[in-house]
Amino acid sequence: MLDQLEKLAARASAELQKIASLEDLEGWRVSYLGRKSRLIEILRSLGDVAVEERRELGSRANQLKNSLESQLSIKKERLEQALHQLLEHNKIDITLPGEPYQPGNLHLTTKTVKEICDIFVSMGFQVVEGPEVEWERYNFEMLNMPAGHPARDGFATLWVDYQTKTGARPMLMRTHTSPTQPRVMEKSSPPIRVVAPGRVYRYEATDATHEWMFSQVEGFAIDKNITMADLKGTLFEFARRLFGQDRKCRFRVDYFPFVEPGCEIAIDCFMCGGKGCRLCKESGWIEILGAGMIHPEVLRGCGIDPDEYSGFAFGMGVERIPILRYGIDDIRLFYSNDLRFLKQF
Ligand code: DAH
Repeated sequence: MLDQLEKLAARASAELQKIASLEDLEGWRVSYLGRKSRLIEILRSLGDVAVEERRELGSRANQLKNSLESQLSIKKERLEQALHQLLEHNKIDITLPGEPYQPGNLHLTTKTVKEICDIFVSMGFQVVEGPEVEWERYNFEMLNMPAGHPARDGFATLWVDYQTKTGARPMLMRTHTSPTQPRVMEKSSPPIRVVAPGRVYRYEATDATHEWMFSQVEGFAIDKNITMADLKGTLFEFARRLFGQDRKCRFRVDYFPFVEPGCEIAIDCFMCGGKGCRLCKESGWIEILGAGMIHPEVLRGCGIDPDEYSGFAFGMGVERIPILRYGIDDIRLFYSNDLRFLKQF
């Protein structure tokens, strides 16, 4: 029996070492010190043991009981302490105020695009979008700018590094939204009334007035008997709705290869009322868009008979509008992701 006690002592201590939770510790207590444990059984049956053996066995068994009890209480204290530390460390103070949630807002460009498109939608135009990575064919050729045309120089082009089997590089980042014109014309037949907003790209060094990416809204209408009067009526109405009903509009000849005749539309300066100021560069006028009657060659190239149909087209820069309205002095602010700027609009 003494032998049994020694083995029991060794086993109990070894098992206790491995225990890592209070639940397991309770299990250990039940099996080594519980009422039905071997040690307690031995203590209880000491009376049946021969007198010669009783003293030594009794003293060893009691000693073991005390030792196990003290090991138990040390271990228990340690486990409780560890648990307490863990809780303390992960404590959440639910009375602290939360992090304020910052609701976002639409980007100034997005808002302006929406404002422009809404005006045209109310006049019966449909909103269409074209790809930003475009073929040279749509961006230039179908717009009456064949290879070598001098007007191509005005569009500092970012070419995409894609080569055909014949070694040509016909892919680019669109330099304007005008390629949506042939894209739509090719696929539909008049009457057509479309506005096409989107991002455009230019291979340009950036400064306060130049960005390599900006936005435009293109628009065009094709039907029988569309004339310059429709162009004027539509665009003057647009300009007044965007900049105020008492705006005056100026209409001057300009050149774009894809329209004939081409024109530029300006409004009288809304800052000085036309007297001349810093905003209008002392001229009294602010240019807002380019436009014209769609060139017969462009119509023909898209399968629309220019003897039967005619149309007008226009294109405008989007960022320019809030730049004028709010006196923003650096276009780079639009896309440098500074929330202090973006949150104001
Ligand atoms: N695409 C021209 C540009 O980026 C703007 C433009 C001018 C568009 C006249 C037109 C237009 O549709 O008729 O400079």
